[in-house]
Amino acid sequence: MSKPHVAEAITALRAHRQTLPTDMRALFAGDANRFATLSACFEDMLLDWSKCAVTIDTMQLLHKLADAAGVSERRDAMFAGDVINTTENRAVLHTALRNNGSDPVVVDGKNVLPDIAAVLDAMGTFADGIRDGSITGATGKPITDIVNIGIGGSDLGPVMATLALAPYHDGPRAHFVSNVDGAHIHDTLKALDPASTLVIVASKTFTTIETMTNAQTARRWIAGALGEDAVPHHFAAVSTALPKVAAFGIPEDRVFGFWDWVGGRYSLWSAIGLPIMIAVGPQNFRRFLDGAHALDTHFRDAPVETNLPMILGLIGYWHRVICDYPARAVIPYEQRLLRLPAYLQQLDMESNGKRVTRDGEPVDTPTGPLVWGEPGTNGQHAFFQLLHQGTDVIPVEFIIAAQSHEPELKTHQDLLIANCLAQSEALMRGRTLEEAKAQLSEKGMAADEVARLAPHKVFPGNRPSLTIVHKLLDPYALGRLIALYEHRVFVEAALFGINAFDQWGVELGKELATELQPVIEGKADAQGRDSSTAGLVAAISSLRS
Ligand code: F6P
Repeated sequence: MSKPHVAEAITALRAHRQTLPTDMRALFAGDANRFATLSACFEDMLLDWSKCAVTIDTMQLLHKLADAAGVSERRDAMFAGDVINTTENRAVLHTALRNNGSDPVVVDGKNVLPDIAAVLDAMGTFADGIRDGSITGATGKPITDIVNIGIGGSDLGPVMATLALAPYHDGPRAHFVSNVDGAHIHDTLKALDPASTLVIVASKTFTTIETMTNAQTARRWIAGALGEDAVPHHFAAVSTALPKVAAFGIPEDRVFGFWDWVGGRYSLWSAIGLPIMIAVGPQNFRRFLDGAHALDTHFRDAPVETNLPMILGLIGYWHRVICDYPARAVIPYEQRLLRLPAYLQQLDMESNGKRVTRDGEPVDTPTGPLVWGEPGTNGQHAFFQLLHQGTDVIPVEFIIAAQSHEPELKTHQDLLIANCLAQSEALMRGRTLEEAKAQLSEKGMAADEVARLAPHKVFPGNRPSLTIVHKLLDPYALGRLIALYEHRVFVEAALFGINAFDQWGVELGKELATELQPVIEGKADAQGRDSSTAGLVAAISSLRS
């Protein structure tokens, strides 16, 4: 159950929504300052939420909700290292990983910043050695390719960031294997030379079955080609479970640790970022951390009216709980942010896909939305039809850089920006029946044909979107952007009253897969299972024989 003050704030917001004008064109026409009022900047990053159906009164009511839910207090508790992940009895301190300040961050009576700095330095030395060729494979060949083996948070962040930072990628080629589907590792390794390949096994727990299975396959690939003695030269590991790594046979100086107060989906700032560092170099990696730290400071210190993660979280809550929209689309108009939607899916849905409050009571509002997306402009030619004319309203979050890394291709960037802004304008404005008819008539179409076609050309409009603009997708801006989304998820969780930092919902499937493995292997039968599962086991087994 929501606390009484929170319930009151929700009731006030629902009542307020009934009084809001529904025509966004009129909202813009009636207020020349609408953009100025409903946008805010941090450094060169701008958040424009004026195309969402809110007013300054809405924002004030949302601020009251944030107060009632104690969002600022929870934020401060996170930064202070309090045990806010109460179901796993852990602090939540990914912010410490990018904290370049000198004030201690204390967990269990110990300042964790020196340990973080030591791991970063060790990663830097190793990354430099791989990059400059002083660390080689067993045969003396320089490392030309790295293969990161991990899944979920041990994969999505490094993949996303490595793609995003392609213009800074001057180290070995980076490959990522996550899926236990043998096709993934097969297709990745077949193009590589074991003698010049470094495999990084990335797993917080070092027990995840997909990662361990892929790691063993990679180990056989190296040992088969170069001999067992070559294995230590071709592997590194990243984990919190150091004894398990040692058992795998990876030498201590190639093992980079992190801590249980770093959640998997918040771990790319830790040693899990090693492939990013090897790809773009330690200096660029530190700039990535600096961007995130700057956003952390903004989140901690800026007033709620101009605090970008607060605003993003409050608007997210408005759409999800007050407007009851079940999904949101994130559309980066940056091809290099290709994997950002997938990254945000884990960040958001694994964090806020919960159905009980922090106290274990059933929630009485919806929680995290379905998050999905693809880069623009590609999405425009695929699913934007539904965004514009489908029966559901899906708020859209556009992300666009003013500058590109290819100034010589200015026409491309101009077109990209024009498309991005056009989509948010189209979602907001729509096209009325009269406008559709007028447009068709202007083309000289017969009246009966105009009447027949016009309904198909109507866009309802009033579809909310917000836009994040930044100058250039560089390491600093990427760090800032990811931290913005992390803290938005935090704000929404605080408003929902849930714990964003556990992920018990992934457990049941894992347990059942463990039970089913011997059944699939033919070592046990499917008796006692539901008839669908038993039927599928039988059908698949007959197709395999
Ligand atoms: O199954 C979910 C999960 O636990 C994620 O939270 C995590 O990012 C992923 O699996 C990988 O876990 P690990 O890094 O321990 O292999």
